[in-house]
Amino acid sequence: MKEKSKNKKMWSGRFKSTTNKLVETFTASLPFDRRLYAHDIAGNIAWARALAHAKVLTKDEADKITDGLKTVKKAIEDGRAEFSDRDEDIHMAVERLLTETIGELGGKLHTGRSRNDQVALDLRLYLRDEIKQIIEAVKALQSALTAKAKNHIDVVMPGYTHLQKAQPIRYAHYLLAYYEMLERDRLRFQDGFQRVNVMPLGSGALAGTNYPIDREALAEALGFPSVTQNSLDAVSDRDGAIEFLSAAAILMMHLSRFCEELILWSTEEFGFLELPDSYCTGSSLMPQKKNPDVPELIRAKTGRVYGHLIALLTVMKGLPLAYNKDLQEDKEAVFDTVETTKNSLTILTGLVKGMTVRREAAERAAGKGFLLATEAADYLVGKGLPFRQAHEVVGRIVRYCLDQHKDFSQISLKELQKFSSRFQKDILGYLDLEASLERKQSTGATARNRIREQIRRIEGK
Ligand code: ARG
Repeated sequence: MKEKSKNKKMWSGRFKSTTNKLVETFTASLPFDRRLYAHDIAGNIAWARALAHAKVLTKDEADKITDGLKTVKKAIEDGRAEFSDRDEDIHMAVERLLTETIGELGGKLHTGRSRNDQVALDLRLYLRDEIKQIIEAVKALQSALTAKAKNHIDVVMPGYTHLQKAQPIRYAHYLLAYYEMLERDRLRFQDGFQRVNVMPLGSGALAGTNYPIDREALAEALGFPSVTQNSLDAVSDRDGAIEFLSAAAILMMHLSRFCEELILWSTEEFGFLELPDSYCTGSSLMPQKKNPDVPELIRAKTGRVYGHLIALLTVMKGLPLAYNKDLQEDKEAVFDTVETTKNSLTILTGLVKGMTVRREAAERAAGKGFLLATEAADYLVGKGLPFRQAHEVVGRIVRYCLDQHKDFSQISLKELQKFSSRFQKDILGYLDLEASLERKQSTGATARNRIREQIRRIEGK
């Protein structure tokens, strides 16, 4: 008797009736996990060789299976392979296509293996590839920021706290703040990569495999430096995906903060930046509009990445060991996060390259108001007044200016001396914008040579 007719499930043996149609669709992951086909086939080829090594397959059988898998891969890539609802997931689809290609021999491939260790492997292979790409995309954005900083070291802008003008800073200093955030993001992805880079195959459904599989050799064939050490853990762990999602969530949070500022700085009210036309959109009604849709969308998409992280943490929190179908929900979260993060990084890099700073507007804003009030206090400290008293004196000067509708820069030495006799002629030079920037000489500060030093450190990496 032939064990299986074409339309039956691979696991139909113990079932009396066929699957309800809605259940079939509801439980299937093929619509989204088909993107794992190349990783699944790479794992299959390595598994076929491991089975031959363990004398479960002859060398000839393993070769035929390997060739068959390559044919299947080509068929999928050329769009010739037909996927069916009945396949349930990419693992069963590939096995069916293989069997259709090479006949019953295809049915030997799943010996000693389960979809549980198979999907654990596929996800790790996929994450390895994508993490590498995301790290490259982070680096590209870092380079764009560094190049901008290098070319604009003389441009001054207001620095803010509470979104109130605080102290003047260099535009380059501002840009490099995001370089630093991205550097920590890059390291987070890099760090998580090491824990993803462990080989789970050979764990079987949960207890291990009956066949003498050399798991270390299998790991080597697939480019993993080590193998998982507990089969129950290996098939039920999704930490690697969760770490990836959290690194992505933190990265998106940084991009979102940056985007918020790009939106603000490019308004007429601030006017510090001009975003490239090719990255902006117009209004269907108001002809004058140039809308910052790109940074707005990146800011918004941050929310969906947070959502994926919370979703997977929640999926995992009540799961008994080992595999549960709940784990299938990991994939859409991971896939969508990969797409969202990569696209956001790439498009933001283009936008940064194309944006221009409006030097005069930024410097005018830095020169107006009370951004140099702290400098005046430090001047008095230099003349022997304790800082707390100096703060009080300058506070009163600010109050006076506000009452007189005068800017800090418009106040005369005579007026200053009414508040403290310690003010001398040299105060005028002291309250110069450039001089105030150059006094910020601590490591990581806004003085020109300090920024140059940061750029040298970055470029030396
Ligand atoms: N499509 C499944 C998933 O994504 C593969 C593993 C299925 N394992 C099982 N025992 N049903 O998790």
